[in-house]
Amino acid sequence: MAYNKTDGIAVKIDKASFNFKKLNAIDDLSLDVTAGISFGLLGPNGAGKTTLIRLLTGLLKPKSGSIEVLGQTPSQKTAHLIGYMPQLHSLYLELSIIQNVNFFALIYGLRDRNKRAQRLEEVIKLVDLWQRRNDSVLNLSGGMRQRVSLACAIVHKPPLLLLDEPTVGLDPELRVTFWDYFASLTRQGTTLIISSHTMDDAAHCDHLAFMRQGKVIAQGTPSELRQAARKPDASLEEAFLYFIHREDGKDE
Ligand SMILES: Nc1ncnc2c1ncn2[C@@H]1O[C@H](COP(=O)(O)OP(=O)(O)OP(=O)(O)O)[C@@H](O)[C@H]1O
Ligand SMILES: [Mg+2]
Repeated sequence: MAYNKTDGIAVKIDKASFNFKKLNAIDDLSLDVTAGISFGLLGPNGAGKTTLIRLLTGLLKPKSGSIEVLGQTPSQKTAHLIGYMPQLHSLYLELSIIQNVNFFALIYGLRDRNKRAQRLEEVIKLVDLWQRRNDSVLNLSGGMRQRVSLACAIVHKPPLLLLDEPTVGLDPELRVTFWDYFASLTRQGTTLIISSHTMDDAAHCDHLAFMRQGKVIAQGTPSELRQAARKPDASLEEAFLYFIHREDGKDE
């Protein structure tokens, strides 16, 4: 899919801030995301992960600073370049699986009927719901809805995928399938930004940003973060706690 040349940078955030009234959800945050990697956003509840992702979609606008995705300011014009899997599903409960995915395919401009039908089959099989494609979403379990949501986000093969807690509620087998699929996407050059709470997800990412109170408090590859926390053998949880304590002025 055509988009502006970005010198290998898929997302560029420069001193962006966003507040909900008095609450600074994103606070003077700068971040570059290299194209073609999986980039994990980690942080506790309320750290600002969802707000940051919504800023990247263009659904929210920064109050100050600037944001570029694939060389452009996020807006309706960049929507076709982005696949967005929201934390809260935006599925039509009364429609079937295939009708939901078809709806998103049409929104994203997959007009050719045959190609669309082929792509619907591909993505619904990928999330292992082909047998149930005519079931209404209302009758699916939480994890199954999660899988439909992923199918909707990837149906138009976007170069940038924003996945807000995509692995929540997945059984272990499917979690592995998702990560295998994410790895195949980055090999093909897709950039993935994935928010998560689990360090299992974090370990799969090429690069991580630890967020807290609207700021990035540390970033790097998983092993760089362990090293920087002066605990190369430590878990990522321990590394995260190290950075939190450092922010609070409590040296370990
Ligand atoms: N629509 C809203 N109106 C007012 N405040 C909001 C709104 N959405 C988020 N916030 C606040 O902004 C801050 C960041 O929330 P956000 O949803 O970005 O966090 P998060 O890191 O995604 O958390 P979680 O891990 O729980 O999903 C929180 O303090 C939250 O209460
Ligand atoms: Mg969130």
